[in-house]
Amino acid sequence: MSYSGIKDKVAIVTGAGEGIGFAVAQLLAAHGAKVILNDIDTTKANEAAEEINSAYADMCLPFSGDAGAISVINEMVDFTISNFGKVNFIIPNAGITLFGDFLEFTPDSFQKVMNLNLHGAFFLAQRAAKQMIKQGDRGSMVFMSSQVGIQAYQHLTAYGMTKAALRMMAKNLAYVLGKHKITANAVAPGATLTERTQQEQPDYEGIWGKLNPNARVGKPEDIAKTVLFLLSEEATHINGQTIPVDGGWTVGGKYPEDLM
Ligand SMILES: NC(=O)c1ccc[n+]([C@@H]2O[C@H](COP(=O)([O-])OP(=O)(O)OC[C@H]3O[C@@H](n4cnc5c(N)ncnc54)[C@H](O)[C@@H]3O)[C@@H](O)[C@H]2O)c1
Repeated sequence: MSYSGIKDKVAIVTGAGEGIGFAVAQLLAAHGAKVILNDIDTTKANEAAEEINSAYADMCLPFSGDAGAISVINEMVDFTISNFGKVNFIIPNAGITLFGDFLEFTPDSFQKVMNLNLHGAFFLAQRAAKQMIKQGDRGSMVFMSSQVGIQAYQHLTAYGMTKAALRMMAKNLAYVLGKHKITANAVAPGATLTERTQQEQPDYEGIWGKLNPNARVGKPEDIAKTVLFLLSEEATHINGQTIPVDGGWTVGGKYPEDLM
């Protein structure tokens, strides 16, 4: 696979110590982009950046901190500019998935989900957009939505709301930033096997792999390849869209409860 307009660009990927964000960071570095790899866990951020640099020397710098916090967002963008000179791409990937019965869901849990999934993505996009406009080059943003931002799921009301809102954020930013040569899109992963999902449910593949027409769970690389395409020169006329990467789940998938 070869896309143009990735090499020598500078990307910020949040929540990239493992899982989907790590796969995105790794694929970007493999295609010649410099990457700021953010994670709230300093050890994970450092180890992930080290792993990428061992394959693609000097392509990645770790930046640890809470991607939902304004001070971290501002420092991270400043750090990116002082180390790599510019910001071309952002992938606000960090997101928290809090399952819970709607009737019992607490204000504290609601706030946590909103703060990282929405507040963090919104203000990283705002800060990066100002920088991209100043640079005057092409820029691109890819938000990490979800299949449950398209299709409702009873235990994920607050999370699903944020993931639907990210799709609307991409539409709004396309409208606002298109004239500055900045595109904003989203990807909506279906059930994807990551360290977290594997830990939450040891038979994750067995259970969730049955639920979409492709009859398998997604791999982080499936999502990363779509993100890479949306960031590339080839995708510059795609703006404000959400691409589900879900094995066809949203066209007729099931939930584990449906199989019981
Ligand atoms: N895995 C899936 O099945 C799936 C499906 C749909 C959407 N998504 C979305 O994709 C994104 C990545 O999912 P995943 O399963 O790879 O991620 P994950 O939950 O495994 O988290 C990845 C990394 O994010 C870090 N992180 C957590 N909170 C953070 C914060 N406040 N600031 C910075 N980093 C933080 C974690 O330490 C971890 O290393 C999320 O937004 C998630 O909602 C995932």
